[in-house]
Amino acid sequence: MKAVIPAAGLGTRFLPMTKNSPKEMLPIVDKPAIQYVVEEAVGSGINDIVIVTGRGKEVIENHFDIAYELEKILDERGETKKLDEIRKISRLADIYYIRQKMPLGLGHAIYVARRHIGRATFAVMLGDDIIISKKPCIKQLIEAYKKVNASVIAVQKVEKKRISKYGVIEYEKVENNLYKIIDIVEKPSIEEAPSNMAVMGRYILTPKIFSYIKKLKPGKNDELQLTDALKEMLKNHDIYAYRFEGERFDLGDKLDWIKINVELALKGKESKELKKFLKNLLK
Ligand code: UTP
Repeated sequence: MKAVIPAAGLGTRFLPMTKNSPKEMLPIVDKPAIQYVVEEAVGSGINDIVIVTGRGKEVIENHFDIAYELEKILDERGETKKLDEIRKISRLADIYYIRQKMPLGLGHAIYVARRHIGRATFAVMLGDDIIISKKPCIKQLIEAYKKVNASVIAVQKVEKKRISKYGVIEYEKVENNLYKIIDIVEKPSIEEAPSNMAVMGRYILTPKIFSYIKKLKPGKNDELQLTDALKEMLKNHDIYAYRFEGERFDLGDKLDWIKINVELALKGKESKELKKFLKNLLK
């Protein structure tokens, strides 16, 4: 299976940081966000990845390339551990890049990858959504896909007051954590939301989706919304939702970025010092 990682958005919720730097390169402790996403794909057995980029996103390509001078210097200094870590990044997977010339929406970003995907079912993993879980989230979805042989979307329950930030599904339960989608609505008001089950940034999609994106008219913010294409596709094809195990952070949201950094740092080498620092700060 191939994966598409859309990473061409403007990141306006994270300005001014994103004026000249992609939010997908925001550090989470010491690794850029998009490396977590690529590692999740690789950890799920996906080795062919297409990253959809745009103007100003070249640093993403450089990050997954070899860093000749740096590697040479680390080698000369005998810093083998660091050298191995750096080299591993450029060998993670076969990564291809496609430019989305204008940020016309998530649906459009996926559509520009259609020729690379061809006629196979593929994964979509948003470049700014990080999911921390025991089993990689996209692997959980692939397993669900194998059961239902139809598109599967990652969902989680969210608090009703936060529901308007998400795509929301109306559903029928099939079995534990697996649901058949009846309808899907993008960013509904609290009153309009058909449930509290929200779509998170991981999808397994059959290539039929491309014909529905092609027929789309611009929706919210004049963008081609993936949710609108899914809504149309639902009229003719079954689509399922899988409630995955894991914690999801949206790096488009400043608070989520702070939270994931604190959470992962508390699990890392700096945890003892950080705990002390936080305790003092909160006194
Ligand atoms: P978001 O809506 O979260 O990203 O899209 P955005 O548009 O960059 O953010 P804001 O709302 O302006 O702050 C989810 C993912 O889809 C990509 C983004 O890069 C992000 O990883 N995306 C979005 C594209 O690749 N192209 C687009 O036209 C829109």
